Amino acid sequence: MKFEFPARGEWARLPTPIEKLERLSTDLGLNLWIKRDDQTGFEWNGNKIRKLEFLAKDALLKGATCLVTCGGVQSNHCRATAALAAKLGLRCVLILRGQAPEKIRSNHLLDQLFGAEIFYVTPEQYYEGMEDFRLLIDGQIRAQGGKTYFIPEGGTGALGCFGYAQAFRELEEQRKEKGLPAFDSIVVAHGSGGTQAGLVLGQLLDEETETKIVGVNVCYEEKESFRLVKEALWSAIQQHHLPLAFMAQDIRILPGFRGRGYALSAPEELSFLRKVAREEGLLLDPVYTGKALRGLYETAKQRPDFFGKNVLFIHTGGGFGLFQLEDEWKEVVS
Ligand SMILES: Cc1ncc(COP(=O)(O)O)c(C=O)c1O
Repeated sequence: MKFEFPARGEWARLPTPIEKLERLSTDLGLNLWIKRDDQTGFEWNGNKIRKLEFLAKDALLKGATCLVTCGGVQSNHCRATAALAAKLGLRCVLILRGQAPEKIRSNHLLDQLFGAEIFYVTPEQYYEGMEDFRLLIDGQIRAQGGKTYFIPEGGTGALGCFGYAQAFRELEEQRKEKGLPAFDSIVVAHGSGGTQAGLVLGQLLDEETETKIVGVNVCYEEKESFRLVKEALWSAIQQHHLPLAFMAQDIRILPGFRGRGYALSAPEELSFLRKVAREEGLLLDPVYTGKALRGLYETAKQRPDFFGKNVLFIHTGGGFGLFQLEDEWKEVVS
């Protein structure tokens, strides 16, 4: 379907490469490619910048002077927002869930290097009082003559969805240019759901492809993950008056790979990161992409037909999270 996307800033390094993972492909008996969205730019590497290209552009068009967003203390999304705000000469306020950590490292260190102003809130305040915090910050910034623009967690929402609808267009163009076969499945890590929702939106707009888009839920339970994708997709379709319909089967969640829980690592997960680093020279992150690619790998081993023969995994970044762990690595790399 011909549809002009909303205005977008061009800040990410695009298109990101598509590469074949040779040894994993042989191991699994399929063609496994990876789209390197971990290379969208060092400072804002990962999937969030694609959503921010739409959101921050909207903020600029509305005359905002300060980006406000929220997430966990080690949020990749918050770090990417802080980096982009600095690049654009905007203020950035982060509402972080949790206490100020004793050690300043990884994304949380970078938030501060980029000059973000940080509020730490308890999980109760985060989940129940976010609106109050937003109003408080908004009032303070307005009193100083500024204007805020609020970006939801993970950049997920009606506008943020276009980040991966655009990525879907990009990867289809690349695939055709390179003469690659149609992808039977595209697999991605699922957190706040906006990346998966955007890919499904891209596919609905494309009309030509029949790719299965699969999200590996590493953050929330399966039902909640399904709901998040459905809501983001629905709001994008409604707010942009798109004549598109989707069905429950368009939202595929692959459960069983959250392990001990969000941002918690188990030895078998870190061993998988090591295997991929050694066999493919590729770094995954322990919170999202490591669990998601492991989900793909284990599932393809047990059910060889599950993803089809031609599979694309999207590396959504998060590499700074490798430096968040300490003792967990000792047995894995010694
Ligand atoms: C590195 C990384 N990969 C994947 C995701 C999941 O993306 P989404 O929140 O759009 O589901 C996130 C963020 O949550 C992330 O930081």
